Order: sequence, then C-alpha cells, then structure tokens
Amino acid sequence: MYEDLTVPIFLNSLILLKHKELVSCVGWTTADDLYSCSDDHQIIKWNLLNGETTQVAKLPDDIYPIDLHWFPKSFGGKRQTHAENFVLTSSDGKFHLISKTGRVEKSVEAHCGAVLAGRWNYEGTALVTVGEDGQVKIWSKSGMLRSTLAQQGTPIYSVAWGPDSEKILYTSGKQLIIKPLQPNAKVLQWKAHDGIILKVDWNSVNDLILSAGEDCKYKVWDSYGRLLYSSQSHEYPITSVAWALDGELFAVGSFHTLRLCDKTGWSYALEKPNTGSIFNIAWSTDGTQIAGACGNGHVIFAHVVEQRWVWKNFGITLTKRRTMEVRNVLNDAVDLLEFRDRVIKASLNYGHLVVSTSLQCYIFSTKNWNTPLIFDLKEGTVSLILQAERHFLLVDGGGLYLYSYEGRLISSPKVPGMRTDILNVQTISLSNDTLALRDKSDEKVIYLFEPLAGKPLGDGKPLTHKTEIMEIALDQKGHTNERKIAFIDKNRDLYITSVKRFGKEQKVIKIGTMVHTLAWNDTCNILCGLQDTRFTVWYYPNVVYVDKDLLPKTLYERDASEFSKNPQIVSFAGSQVTVRRADGSLIHISISPYPAILHEYVNNSKWEDAVRLCRFVKDQTLWACLAAMAVASKDMNTAEVAYASIGEIDKVQYISSIKDLPSKESRLAHILLFSGNVQDAETLLLQAGLIYQAIQVNINLYNWERALELAVKHKTHVDTVLAYRQKFLDDFGKKETNQRFLQYAEGLEVNWDKIKAKIELEIARERERAAATPAVRASVTIQR
Ligand SMILES: *[C@@H]1O[C@H](CO)[C@@H](O)[C@H](O)[C@H]1NC(C)=O
Ligand SMILES: *[C@@H]1O[C@H](CO)[C@@H](O)[C@H](O)[C@H]1NC(C)=O
Ligand SMILES: *[C@@H]1O[C@H](CO)[C@@H](O)[C@H](O)[C@H]1NC(C)=O
Repeated sequence: MYEDLTVPIFLNSLILLKHKELVSCVGWTTADDLYSCSDDHQIIKWNLLNGETTQVAKLPDDIYPIDLHWFPKSFGGKRQTHAENFVLTSSDGKFHLISKTGRVEKSVEAHCGAVLAGRWNYEGTALVTVGEDGQVKIWSKSGMLRSTLAQQGTPIYSVAWGPDSEKILYTSGKQLIIKPLQPNAKVLQWKAHDGIILKVDWNSVNDLILSAGEDCKYKVWDSYGRLLYSSQSHEYPITSVAWALDGELFAVGSFHTLRLCDKTGWSYALEKPNTGSIFNIAWSTDGTQIAGACGNGHVIFAHVVEQRWVWKNFGITLTKRRTMEVRNVLNDAVDLLEFRDRVIKASLNYGHLVVSTSLQCYIFSTKNWNTPLIFDLKEGTVSLILQAERHFLLVDGGGLYLYSYEGRLISSPKVPGMRTDILNVQTISLSNDTLALRDKSDEKVIYLFEPLAGKPLGDGKPLTHKTEIMEIALDQKGHTNERKIAFIDKNRDLYITSVKRFGKEQKVIKIGTMVHTLAWNDTCNILCGLQDTRFTVWYYPNVVYVDKDLLPKTLYERDASEFSKNPQIVSFAGSQVTVRRADGSLIHISISPYPAILHEYVNNSKWEDAVRLCRFVKDQTLWACLAAMAVASKDMNTAEVAYASIGEIDKVQYISSIKDLPSKESRLAHILLFSGNVQDAETLLLQAGLIYQAIQVNINLYNWERALELAVKHKTHVDTVLAYRQKFLDDFGKKETNQRFLQYAEGLEVNWDKIKAKIELEIARERERAAATPAVRASVTIQR
C-alpha cells in the first residue's frame, strides 16, 4: 500500500515502422517478445532484447486481421513459460488459431461480417468472439461452437471476460452489457457513453472495468456498473484502453496520443507520438512495458519508469529500466543501484528494499546499499512484494514464497486451486506472525497462515464472513495472541476480529460503516479509514473487546467531503496520513501524536506516565483510550482514574466494587464480565472451584436456567437460585411458569435468613482461601 507513492511516467517510448499499412493488433508472448498484425497481411515478431524483427507469417490477401489474443500461459493444466498459440480474428468472418511459428492450425467460420474481437478466458478453456453481426459466441479450446450467448441488433466492437471467467462484458452501441454464461442469470446493462463504445477491458485483480468511446471519453466502472471515474471529453475518439495485469495502471490510446493512468482514473503521463490512432494496446506480462498498434503502420513501445518509493529519510526512484537512485534526505547522499535485468517490482519498508527483476530478487538493507543479497527467481514475473518487519513475501502466478531478509526461503503457503497472480494489497496481508489472504473462489473466506511453517493457523479452519470481503489488513504490533485483522465487506462495513480463535466462536465486531479504504499505522495499532464523507481514526480498535460502548469516544473524525470521489489512503506514517484524491492530488492530514505515545506507555506498563500524559493533553479521546487499555491490561486503578475523567460514573462504581472482591479469581471474572465475556468469566470461576460465585453471576444477569443448571449439577445453592427467582417474579407481579423451576420449588421453603448466612459463609471461605494462597494465578486464556 505504501509503495503507491509512486509516480510512473513513460520513458524511451519508441516508435518503429515495419508494416506498410495500418496495424490493427498486438500481443506479447514473453516480457520481451511481441507479435503485431497489420492490414498488409503480415504477422511480425519483435524481440526487444536483440532488436530483431521477423516476419512470422503472411496471411492471404483477402484476410485483414482485426484482433489477436494469446492463449493464457499459466492455466489449462500445466504451466508453460511461453504462450504457444494465439487466436486471430479477421474481416472475413473467421477466427484462426495460429501457432507461435506462424502456422495456421485452424480457421473457423464464426460470424457474418467481420469478427471484431476474440478473447480466451483465464483458464484457457473457452474463447469468446463478437462480430459485426451483433452476436456473442462461446467456443471450446479447439474451436468448436459451444453457444451463442447473445444476439444484438448492432455490431459488437469489444468484449472481455469477468475475473472468474463466468461472465462476459460486451458493448452494444452506447451500452455496456454484462452477461453471465449461466443460463437465466441476471443480465446487467447500462448506458455508459454518449457515443459508440469502441473498447472495454476488465481487470481480474481489482475487478474494475474500463470503457472508451467515440464520445472521446474513457471511464472506470466497478463490476456493478457504478461509475468511478469519467475523463473529460478529448479531441479525438478513444480507440483503445488496456489494464496492466496487476490492476494498478491502465493505458489509453487515441489519435497521436498515448496516456498512462492510475486505476482511480487520473493521468500520470501523456505522450503525443506520431502514431495516428492507436487501435490496440497490450501490456507485457510483467507490467513494465506496453505496445500499441498504430494507424499509420507503426508499433509504439513504452515502458514505465520514474516510480518512487519512500520510507523514513530514504527516497528511491527507478530512473532507468535497470537503475535506481537512492537519496537520503538527511545528508543528501545519493547511491545508484544497478541491476543486471529489468526491474519489475520493488518494495521499501522496515529498513529494507526488496527488488525483483525478471530473473532475480535483490535485498538491500538501508544501512548498506553496496552489498545486496541476491537470489535467483524460479519465475520471472513477481506480481507483488509484501513486507513485514521479520520477513517478506513474493507472489507470482505459481505461488506464495516467504523469505527472510537474509534471503532464506522460509515457507510457501498453499491454498489448493487458488489463483495467486490476482492477489493484491487489498486481498493479502502479512505481519510477523500471520499471513492472511482472501481468494477469488470464495470471497467470504479469509485464509490464515502461520508464516514460519506455511501451515494454516490453529485448527486450520479459515475465517468465514456472512458476505463477500473486499479488503483485509492485519495489525503489526503487539503480542501474537492479540493479532487482529480488520476487513471491509461488500456492504462497506468495517469489522475487526482476533486472528487466533479462543473457545468456540470467533468474535467479529463491526466498528465502522461506509468505509472505502483503510490503513494500519505500522508502528502501533492505530487504524485510519475513509468513512463516507468522514476521515476516521480508530485510536484503539481493541476497545470493542474491552468496553464496546466506549468505541465512539476513542475515535477521531473530521470532515473529508473535500476529498471528492474515491480517495485512497497512500500512507500512514508518523502522525501524518496521506490521501490521494481521484484527480491525483495528495492531501496530508495531521493527527494527534499522543495516542501513539500512549500506546507505547501502555505496551511497557508505564501507567503513571500514561495518566500524566492524559492529564497534560486534557483530551477526552485519550482518556477513553486509556480507560479501555487499562481494563485490557487489568490495571483497575488506572481504569478507575480514566473512567472518572470521562464522567462514566457507573463504570467507576463497578470497578471500585471489583476491587473489593475477596479473591483474585473473582476480580478477574468481574473484569471479564465488565467486558461482556460472560462465558469466560463463568469458566474461570468454575475452574477455580468458586461454584457459588459462578451461580451468582448468572443470577445477576438473569440467566436463570443456567444458574439452576449449575446449582443442580453441583448440588449447592438450589434454594438460593429459587429464592432470587421468586423475588424477581414477585417484583414484576408474575407467576412461575417454567416447568423446571416449578419442579424444584415443590416442597421447598425459601428461607432468606438461611440463604444469606450461606452466602456470607461462601464469601468468608473465598477470602480465607485467597489469603492462604496469595500466588494463585488464573489460567484462562482471555480473548481480547
Ligand atoms: C517483528 O519481528 C522483528 C524482527 O524479528 C522484531 O524486531 C519485532 O519486534 C517483531 N514485532 C512484533 C510486533 O512482534
Ligand atoms: C505511526 O508510525 C510512525 C512511523 O511510521 C510512528 O513514528 C508514529 O508515532 C505513528 N504515528 C501514529 C499517530 O500512530
Ligand atoms: C512493547 O513491549 C515489549 C516488551 O515490554 C517491547 O519488547 C516492545 O518493543 C514494545 N513495543 C513498543 C512498540 O514499544
């Protein structure tokens, strides 16, 4: 998330002429090999490493190529390093399956009039074609017609598969249509442009849709058809749009225009090359370069550089494809880092820079830029680097690989059938002790791993939510047993839960609504997010496990309506949060530095310092945080002071009554009750042999049946339960109707004097026992 501080621009865009006529389509086989097809009927292969171009094939004179798409390389059973063949659609109503050597393996009659586009699904098990005849057809891998999915009155210019390969997006005049392959499933259709739509693309990582049209605009949509971004109207129709594989960037082509945009729509860079209209754009699989098919017979190549990474006093810029410049702002020292191969991904955090090139991984320490650790990569296309303080994770199409900063492979966690190449910072999160990820196949499920062993955490059961999860984030600080994960679901509700499971159920607690984006501070467990039109900081999210009512008092909120649509949190470092608006401008928000200091005092049990800080700052929010932190740490003296300072008199009284309880177990149990953990409190008391106290807790909470059950089971205080029950019914003028109570009440005379004597005896006994064994320690794991 932090690496988002990048500002890539194009460099070395290179326009090459090999074709004699309009170039209609391009496609990459590897990160350095491109195929292009033209109205001159040639298929040309370009190798960027040695600069060679070769004519792979010459098509018959009556075939004008329109669209090409390589068969996906990472699916369909075995993994291959190169795509072996591609589909080419043409003006004569056919599509052709062509090998990489240029041999036409098969030509299939597909549409009346031109076949305007053809796309393989992600698994390589089906092909979709669309045509001038307004039909959408699905074909098998070998080119057998499976079905005609749709029939429109107008030509269909562009088509894309949904991320799960179960839906098709296509154009129909000014409309966009999403149709599931499943018969009778709901079709989504909306008016997207004021002119004919020429191109669409759908990214499988971020699930966002791009469209471009004759109205000279390009737009970004979510998969429900909601508009996220619309460009202004440009001078010429937008003839091409294409997502980079990882969904962070997209490219836009138009007449003499090539543009690079962030996923939120704003434009990083604009080039005005002499290309004519750019009809088709393809990204290399590693996401570092793009190629465009130009109307004037050229092919344009461009690669993405000038990315920037910032951590503490270090700013790093990718200045060339294989060179990074490190600047230390403290002393203005500059180091140059040279790489043997092209830089593909990089991440800078926790005192380390991790860089993947097409063949290797480099690990630099910010203390020494001269001697990186280097190891070879199995696969050249790292799609994501994720850092925690202790280790980092490399993600590619083949799997997940956790490394130490010494370059040792620690583990390779696996989820069967998972597509790792589409994981992104929203769907995977790493901390010292936990790896969490959400897979596309079931978006309600979060898988949790112990990184060292690479094995599922605890009982191996993933965390399952009631609706789809959009974004997850682990906190980074504190004890492993208290690791929390925050997540946003499809309804934009924000939840928090403990990663470790205690007892039967996992408490998942809602702490926000309409949340668009979130970030943890990396040095203490403070969470910030954008909620509807407000910017919110959860200074102590753990409060919900301690005293849920206190949550609103521990928040900082300010109006964020000026951030406009779809702002993103790009960093949360120091007491400054940086937010990027949809137009690309950065906004810095300062938040109070005191909660972070409070976290640190509390972490080190410096309660007096904590109280002194709150007295000094005189802020109710800080006192509220301290109250909850103190209860969480069972420091009831501090809790009493803090609750008094925020005027929670009921709670002060309760806490002071807890302090008077006769034994440590009782006190602990009542602290648990204070936080609403009835089950844990009862368990603790029963384990300590304090049967009467466990019964009384249930009586106080009107858990009558449980109180009676315990009394009967332990053959004690049945009369106490019945007496309180009778009093309760009398107070409300009611009669006993419960069969069990009626049964036990039969023939039993309630004698309050006797009962009171018995209770006093119990308390005296507890006090005596506690005095005899002062060191007794409760041994119940408490979920916080
Ligand atoms: C995470 O690991 C690093 C390195 O082992 C250690 O210094 C740090 O204290 C750990 N942080 C937490 C919260 O456990
Ligand atoms: C957040 O993290 C920074 C380090 O990046 C730390 O210095 C700071 O105290 C933290 N700030 C807040 C407000 O939590
Ligand atoms: C929290 O306390 C532990 C032990 O007292 C210490 O090792 C750790 O560095 C502290 N963490 C922070 C952020 O102060």
